[in-house]
Parts: sequence; structure tokens; C-alpha cells
Amino acid sequence: MEPTVAVIGATGAVGDVFLRVAAEREFPMKKLKLLASSRSAGTVLHYRGQPITVEETTEASLEDADLVFCSASSEVSKRWGPWLRERGKVMIDDGSAFRMDPTVPLVIPEVNGDDLEWHQGIISIPNCTTTPLAMALNAMRQVAPLYRVTAATYQAVSGTGAAAVRELNAQVAAIGRGEPVPPPTVYPVQIAMNVLPQVDDFDEDDYTKEELKMRNETRKILHEQDLRFAATCVRVPVAITHAEVVHVEFTREAPMAQLHQALKNHPGIVLIEDPKQYVTPLQVEGDDRTYVCRLRPDRTVDHGVTFWCLTDNLRKGAATNAIQIAEELLKRGKI
Ligand code: A2P
Repeated sequence: MEPTVAVIGATGAVGDVFLRVAAEREFPMKKLKLLASSRSAGTVLHYRGQPITVEETTEASLEDADLVFCSASSEVSKRWGPWLRERGKVMIDDGSAFRMDPTVPLVIPEVNGDDLEWHQGIISIPNCTTTPLAMALNAMRQVAPLYRVTAATYQAVSGTGAAAVRELNAQVAAIGRGEPVPPPTVYPVQIAMNVLPQVDDFDEDDYTKEELKMRNETRKILHEQDLRFAATCVRVPVAITHAEVVHVEFTREAPMAQLHQALKNHPGIVLIEDPKQYVTPLQVEGDDRTYVCRLRPDRTVDHGVTFWCLTDNLRKGAATNAIQIAEELLKRGKI
């Protein structure tokens, strides 16, 4: 069956990449509908060379959709998720609204694709910082059980959305011209030539929501509710690709050669074996794979390693993962 697909948030940063990835992968569709807010209704976008007029997201514009990708805001997801579910449609949601709902699978197909079996109409994709981390941890725990994980992130501005990319570009351009930097409107401080040790609002225990999302989502995806986990999330003046420094402690010895093998065997991961070699966000942009580099022992603990991990936040961190979920649903006959 070829589904009628609707994309809510088609005019946004993830929506744009979604259309490109769907075209590249030739995702089967009977019809494609591009939806956004009323502000964008009438805008013309293109899919595989064909013009498609953006419509406002309404009951009428969603009525004939079988499969809906949503990348807008939590409010938009909460408005439409239950409505779509009640009508027997499937929503793959890029937002955080339903990720921790026990009736909603949170899926990275290469890690926990089997969780799609119990979906009830809404499937969440993880936060774009969680995905590369959960993939690397899933590979490594084949060698030895995980005991404790800490991470520091270096997150691109496109994770905040298209307006944040425009803000960074405008600030960089002003600096390049030697002009005063326009005051920030998306971030609390200037992001060009700066870093911001806060992603999302502060919450429990003085961690930010992003840091807690990383912890809670990683536990849910790996089915390891007791995993010891702490993260610090930092926004950096990079357009695309999130990077992370991760420290992992195992419960017993995890020989480096076996870790290499497990990472190389894991779908979707590229291991750069020489710990003196690495890739940077600019090299990973446009790639669907997660990179693990600079993997080396952490001798401050009994059985530890540390590494540098990256993924394109708009592709595997969002659009590609969503499309892989849809492909998996079709394969499993779950749409
Ligand atoms: P619009 O362009 O009409 O504002 P980003 O994450 O890059 O900021 O993109 C957010 C996306 O979510 C955009 O496509 C935006 O559409 C869309 N959006 C925002 N508010 C709504 C809404 N109330 N209903 C549907 N889509 C929305």
C-alpha cells in the first residue's frame, strides 16, 4: 500500500530536509501534502521537481492522510496526535510531546525497531542529541553492560529551527562587515563567536530539559531504566550537525578491539578507528550516518572509554530517522 503522506512543518528546517531525504530514498507515496501554519498557506514548495502548494494544517487538510510526519512544536503535536490516532492514522512525531508516553514507542530503527510492533498510532523519534548517543551505546553494550554515561554536547543552531540559522548567519555577516551585531531574538545572547551552556529551559535538579530528555530517552530506547546518566548540553555557532563528547563506564572489562568490532558491525555507525583521526560537523553535514571517533580508554575509572560522536541533526537526528521508521512500518505491515 502506498500511503497518502502529510508533512506538518513542511516549511521548517526539518521539513525542508525531510522532503530531500524522502526524494533521495524514493519513499513510496500515493500523494504528498505539505502543511504548515496559516502564515505559509499558499507558499509553493517542490518535491521531485513538482510544485506543491502549502496548506494550513486543519482537519480538512489532514482528512485524507494515512501517514503524517510532524515537525512543528509540542503544541502542534499535541493538537493533532490524538486526533490522527482516533481516526486510525499514523503520526511520526519529531517533537518531545509524546516521547515519554508509555503508549508511544520512541524509535531508532537500527536500535529498537521492534518497539514499532506495539505502536498505537503515534510514534516518536528521539531528540537529535539522543539518537547518535543511543546508537553508539547500543553497539558498545554488546561487549559489556553499561554502568554509567556522561556526555557534553556541541549542538548546532538548526536544532532550534530555521529562525536560529538566520540569526547566526545575520550575526556572522555583520561581524564580517565590521558592523554592529544585530541583537539576538532567538537566543538569550549572541551565538556567533560564542557558546551557550543552556539548551531549552531549566528543570529538575538544575538540569535543562534537553539534558533530561537525553537521559530519559536514552533509558527508554535502550530499555535500561536504571542507567546512570548525566549530560551538559551546549549550543555552539555551527549551522548543522550535533557533536558530543561521551564518557562510558562498563560494569566489566570491554576490550577495545571488541568495541571496535561492535561499532563497525552496528548499522548506521561509522567508526574512525585511529583515535588520532576525526571528523568535524562540516564533514558530517548531509551524511545519514553517525560517526564515532577518538575512541580511547578513560583510565580514571575501572572500565571506561571516551569518544567524540557526531550526526547530522536534521538528517539522522530528525528527517532520516522519521523516514526510516516509516519504511520499517511499511515493511512490517504496521501502517
Ligand atoms: P510556518 O512556516 O507557517 O510558521 P522551524 O522548526 O524551522 O522553526 O519550523 C517550524 C515549522 O512548524 C514551520 O514549518 C512552521 O510553519 C510550522 N508551524 C508553526 N506553527 C504551526 C501550527 N500552528 N500549525 C502547523 N504548523 C506550524
